[in-house]
Amino acid sequence: MTAAVDSDVKSNETKLVNNVWYKSVRMTVNVLTHVLIFLTVFICILFACNSATVGLYELHIILCVLGYQFFMCQGTLIMSQYNSWSMYITRRYKKHLHWSMQVLAAVLVTVGTAFIIQQKSVHFNTIHGKLGLAALVCCLASLLNGILAMYPRKLSTCISVFWIRFFHYITGVVSMFLATGSLCAAFEYRSFKVWTGNGDVFVPTIVSFTWLFTVLVTLDFWILTGNKIRSLSK
Ligand code: HEM
Repeated sequence: MTAAVDSDVKSNETKLVNNVWYKSVRMTVNVLTHVLIFLTVFICILFACNSATVGLYELHIILCVLGYQFFMCQGTLIMSQYNSWSMYITRRYKKHLHWSMQVLAAVLVTVGTAFIIQQKSVHFNTIHGKLGLAALVCCLASLLNGILAMYPRKLSTCISVFWIRFFHYITGVVSMFLATGSLCAAFEYRSFKVWTGNGDVFVPTIVSFTWLFTVLVTLDFWILTGNKIRSLSK
């Protein structure tokens, strides 16, 4: 019975994936995601490079934003079959690029966080800092899960391959959302607001863009989860 339901769900998914309109929408959404990522990362780097000297605080911004909002997002998008720049790369090379980018992201965000810790005497006493710390913990957990997910067959005797992969996905997705929360809290800082001209539009716009591209980067995860829930509830 479950096998029949599973094959039903799979055949519906295949029909949808082969639909030209669906493909066009997914590719357009992918391009939009890249535009939003580039815009947000560019603005943050511009803000950090605006001061006369680039010290630990500025490096904190550059490394954390490049790590989470650029490399982690690109490393996730690469696994999607609708990602523009990796569409014609074979699955094997996509996997290599995926883990290399995630390792690079983890190194950047760890160093970026260590730099700001050096600058402060009291630690993790703000919403921004707390969310940033939680994002780092999840990012490192996702990296460890990623190593397990690379060899799922060896572990499949104690836990199913699906759940090994799912745990890797969920820690990665949670890390991305926590990093977005931390970044959006930083956008509310006075220094950033003053730099953007203290207007009522800029900060809410960049906050919405950041949340929007985080949801879009993780779109495949939500679709996969939705399909799994549907097949379990039938
Ligand atoms: C995703 C990007 C970012 C992450 C994950 C992140 C993470 C963190 C963490 C974990 C701390 C706490 C360090 C401690 O308490 O010892 C911190 C502090 C700080 N960050 Fe960030 N940061 C990011 C981006 C930014 C940006 C863009 C700005 C500037 C607009 C910024 C400004 C600050 C400031 C001023 C502090 C010291 C005050 C505080 O703890 O809130 N950060 N950050």
